[in-house]
Amino acid sequence: MKIQFQEITAAQTTLKGSKPDAAIVFLVGEDKKLGATAQAVNKQANGALAKALFAGKFAGKRGQCVTVIAPASMKSNHIILAGIGSAKSLDAKALENIGGSIVPHLNAARTGTATVVFETIKGMPMGMAEAAAHMGHGAYLRSYRFDKYHTKKTADEKPTLHTLTVAVANAKAVAKPYADLEKLADGVFFTRDLVSEPANIINPETLAQQCLELEKLGVDVQILGEEDMYELGFGALLGVGQGSTKESQMVIMRWNGLGKSSKTPPLAFVGKGVTFDTGGISIKPAGGMEEMKWDMGGAGTVIGLMKALAGRKAKANVVGVAGLVENMPGGNAQRPGDVVTSYSGQTIEVLNTDAEGRLVLADALWYTQKHFKPRFIIDLATLTGAIIVALGTSRAGLFSNNDKLSEQLYKTGEKTGEEVWRLPLGDVYDKQINSDIADMQNIGKDREAGSITAAQFLQRFVNKTPWVHLDIAGVAWSKKDADTVPKGATAFGVRLLNQLVADYYEMK
Ligand code: BES
Ligand code: MN
Ligand code: ZN
Repeated sequence: MKIQFQEITAAQTTLKGSKPDAAIVFLVGEDKKLGATAQAVNKQANGALAKALFAGKFAGKRGQCVTVIAPASMKSNHIILAGIGSAKSLDAKALENIGGSIVPHLNAARTGTATVVFETIKGMPMGMAEAAAHMGHGAYLRSYRFDKYHTKKTADEKPTLHTLTVAVANAKAVAKPYADLEKLADGVFFTRDLVSEPANIINPETLAQQCLELEKLGVDVQILGEEDMYELGFGALLGVGQGSTKESQMVIMRWNGLGKSSKTPPLAFVGKGVTFDTGGISIKPAGGMEEMKWDMGGAGTVIGLMKALAGRKAKANVVGVAGLVENMPGGNAQRPGDVVTSYSGQTIEVLNTDAEGRLVLADALWYTQKHFKPRFIIDLATLTGAIIVALGTSRAGLFSNNDKLSEQLYKTGEKTGEEVWRLPLGDVYDKQINSDIADMQNIGKDREAGSITAAQFLQRFVNKTPWVHLDIAGVAWSKKDADTVPKGATAFGVRLLNQLVADYYEMK
């Protein structure tokens, strides 16, 4: 879908000559007052808009929408009144959600093009141009589709909306704030595409190749294959991938936004990239196993984040690391009880081959802190089913050794809508992963606190580096549509971490 911005005065003239498959959208607050353009159209429509405002339950609340069929005297087919709630609560997140929530209404009306008339809203804290940019961004994010494998859908069965125009005074001023958001959306869509692909298409080798795309944006991409990792001593990561016919990979992506020669320590993002998780020899039950194609969601987010940051030329040095493996059973697969030596030198008794994500991250985290001495490391992983039991599907679990970074992430989560909730770490949990025959075991002694014992395991591979682990098992994939996120791969974390970098870690 294409998003464009237009001067409100120009929109007023085009509205008169709109095509039949076009719709006009007016925004209405809780006071239910129509803006100047809406009033003019209301007159033309013999008072139909004013009537619609009071005919039903419409109260101007966010998410409410009334679709009015335009009178025969107008060319457009539909006029949509969209509630925007109270003006003072219109921040970036609210505007994105409004923009996104309009999209399905337009498709339901079989609309091809639509113009959102965005007139001055009294009491809105944000400037009009920036607000318009966020509204357009929200609509664009909602328009995402992954439909390349539908070969038989007719035009009738597909969404119709192809162009959305936001009409606003001083449309030129929108270009700058929208440019960055467009790059962010590119990153989000890249992640959604990668995570949506089935595992016969995206495996460690093909996913690593996809990362090379980022070179076009000035990202330095390095791929380590099995031989490289064997020489380095990545026993933990390689053990997970050894049952697969696909070669395990580790991808290191560097964006030096502070200049090639800059010595400023980078920010580091590390992602779990299990392109399919069968559980290995500790095999998972058949029901729902197809979901494990998105067990590379952490890596997917890191890759999309790098695309967004490089795309908008973020003034920060950033490194993204993706540990890519396929967890398969087979004649060469790792067995329960195997002991592996990680890159850190610490030994691990693999009691359950389905607790594989932490093994992949162990080597990726150690590599990252050793080679880059980063300012912080944030890892993302669809790590435990237990985090879904604890937090459900609306928040990621956050574990950290650093209060300041945790607080920054919490705030950024509330601001962007990609929300997190901190859970504890501590010695009582850490003891749970001591092993009888190695330095540690990869699962706890019982099923208690499964997400925390997983995080304790990771903590043993980060030393004193400020570190956050985000368990995104509950949020990487969604079974229902949300305002700016259609069901399927969410790309959770791309918007959150892009904003974290922008708000706290970028040179202005
Ligand atoms: N990838 C899974 C976690 C997961 C479960 C992600 C459901 C998304 C949805 C992970 O590798 C796993 O299998 N974890 C085990 C750990 C257990 C063996 C200690 C789990 O959560 O059951
Ligand atoms: Mn697993
Ligand atoms: Zn997994």
